[in-house]
Amino acid sequence: MLYSIDNLSFVNFVSQCFSEPEALKMINEDDEQLVSVKKMIKTKINHQNIVFLDFGAGRGRILKGLLSDNGIFPKLKYHALEPQKECHSELTKLGVTRLYSDYIELPDNTFDFILLSNVLHEIPIISWENSLNKIISSLKDTGSLMIVEPRTLFKGERIDDSGFMVLSEEEIQILFNLPKNLRPFYFEDYKEKITAVMIQKPDLKGVDEESIRNALIKLQENSVKNAEKLMLNQDEAANKYAYGRKMAFFAMQSINAQICLNKIDN
Ligand SMILES: C[S@@+](CC[C@H](N)C(=O)[O-])C[C@H]1O[C@@H](n2cnc3c(N)ncnc32)[C@H](O)[C@@H]1O
Repeated sequence: MLYSIDNLSFVNFVSQCFSEPEALKMINEDDEQLVSVKKMIKTKINHQNIVFLDFGAGRGRILKGLLSDNGIFPKLKYHALEPQKECHSELTKLGVTRLYSDYIELPDNTFDFILLSNVLHEIPIISWENSLNKIISSLKDTGSLMIVEPRTLFKGERIDDSGFMVLSEEEIQILFNLPKNLRPFYFEDYKEKITAVMIQKPDLKGVDEESIRNALIKLQENSVKNAEKLMLNQDEAANKYAYGRKMAFFAMQSINAQICLNKIDN
């Protein structure tokens, strides 16, 4: 029986974990992810014809946000990869130069930037090694990979036959076998809301089964730690619905990581 609002949000989130995710259409100018991506691109674009790949572009949410910035969009040759074909006409209308449906179509040594915005957690674990390594080889030697993720999901999502895995800095560093700590590029105010990192191609040595396993183990540890923190630091006046949702997110993420670890080991 449901007897409190935080129980309701917990159950809601878990039940959503049986449904496929949806790509959002709209974006606000002050969206934390968009503001961070724009800030980062601006510091890096010093010439015309920057070849930019929006990997998992969805319905062009980030592209719409960049289009309205005259300092950025005219300098980009905007390529997009989106497996859902029904999004392609929308992306073409928005001005995408070239469209791909699958990572295997990506040309090597081509992109100055590849952006994965809200995408990494949707790529099925079984494809991580091949798709992430293909992304690396399609970057120019001077290129950079940008990964943007929310800290927690607002809705549960089913990904393939397991579930979402929302990595933050520490797990991304392990996944990509990176030599040094990742420096986030969000504004300090967004620290609690998003993960936003940029990795230069020379640091990207590749993803392998061992690094995937280690990243999942760290993700599981961190999900449990975050659930413990949530239990210990409850503020009586705080929004109980948000607590229930966050607890469901950490609980499901820990289970999802274990399911994926089992998959890798079998
Ligand atoms: C949450 S949406 C994000 C869309 C957009 N990047 C944004 O930030 O609004 C995730 C997108 O990733 C795409 N996606 C899912 N699995 C993928 C995969 N294996 N390779 C490439 N894209 C994928 C989905 O089709 C979806 O459009």
